[in-house]
Amino acid sequence: MPPNPPVMTKSILKVLNGEALDQPPVWLMRQAGRYLPEYREVRSGAKSFIDFCLTPDKATEVTLQPIRRFNFDAAILFADILLIPMTLGRKVWFETGEGPKLDPLSADDIAGLEIGDVEAILGPVGQTVANLSVALPAETALIGFAGSPWTVATYMIEGGGSKDRWNARRMYWQYPQAMARLLDLIADATIRYLVMQARAGAEVLKLFDSWAEGLPPPMFEDMVIRPTRRIVDGLRAAGITCPVIGFPKGAGPNYIGYAERSGVTALALDHGLNTQWALDNLPERMPLQGQLDPAALRAGGEALDAEIDRIISAFRGRPHIFNLGHGITPDVPVAHVEQLVRKIRGE
Ligand code: CP3
Repeated sequence: MPPNPPVMTKSILKVLNGEALDQPPVWLMRQAGRYLPEYREVRSGAKSFIDFCLTPDKATEVTLQPIRRFNFDAAILFADILLIPMTLGRKVWFETGEGPKLDPLSADDIAGLEIGDVEAILGPVGQTVANLSVALPAETALIGFAGSPWTVATYMIEGGGSKDRWNARRMYWQYPQAMARLLDLIADATIRYLVMQARAGAEVLKLFDSWAEGLPPPMFEDMVIRPTRRIVDGLRAAGITCPVIGFPKGAGPNYIGYAERSGVTALALDHGLNTQWALDNLPERMPLQGQLDPAALRAGGEALDAEIDRIISAFRGRPHIFNLGHGITPDVPVAHVEQLVRKIRGE
């Protein structure tokens, strides 16, 4: 068993268990990243971004960096959602200034895909989690994560990022069986990957569906809700009881069906979602995380303080974890993150 202290001493776990705290716990998406000089230093010594993610000593170190500086209430494992395509035999690489690249996937290619030895291919990530569960302070929760199948599939089909994910959307309508098979394969590989993370000591699991925006209802049901449910059910069947945070970014009113049917414990809300609408329409006892605009953090100053106040008062009385509505950007001054943490903690 992972050498962690009793779970309920950690504020994030209390909130994920449905408690509303006077002062919300806080962590930031992409908190280990390029806005930190000590991250850039370790990053510059890595052969490639993938190699960096698969080197446990380096990945452990950069996961700890934001905890040392800001004492966030949770650490998120340093890795990437685009490691999973490797377990399906696909090549993934990152080009500086351009982001992720993969060999584009056609409907015909999908028939030939098979799940490889997930635990071996991504074994170094399991080692990073194990290192972290020993190295983290007793009050800091450890979050493991993966991409949700739809978002991972869009990168696999498009061969990288894309503006409107046209080929992936078209594949859903034109080759539904191939698409369903691809999502099932990604979900099943992801279950094995997350089971490995939980057994190594991850206490919370998060599913990133960064491209959940703009999907018509039947497609949102098939591509976002159902594959998420498959993962949560697979985890529970394997005996993993960790809370799961789902992040269907940009889902808008589709957050309602996601909350009801995906099986996740908690919802991460993007900054575009109307706060009052979320409070009125999402289950009252469901823990909510979010939803500061990353641009407000970049701006800093009084506007940042006022927006933090607005978010904290809106969610008061509900189980709430303070976070951004999307990842921190590389141009954010460290002083603005210090300001945010001081403000939330009333220091
Ligand atoms: O601190 C953390 O949040 C943990 C680590 C983490 C990374 N990526 C590290 C990373 C997490 C949780 C992710 C998730 C991720 N990766 C998502 C979902 C969240 C989101 O942002 O929507 C997505 C879509 C990806 C795919 C990905 N990885 C892209 C599109 C890029 C390039 C874009 C960019 O910002 O350059 C990455 C690279 C990446 N992943 C970096 C980091 C710190 C920056 C690359 C570097 O340091 O060279």
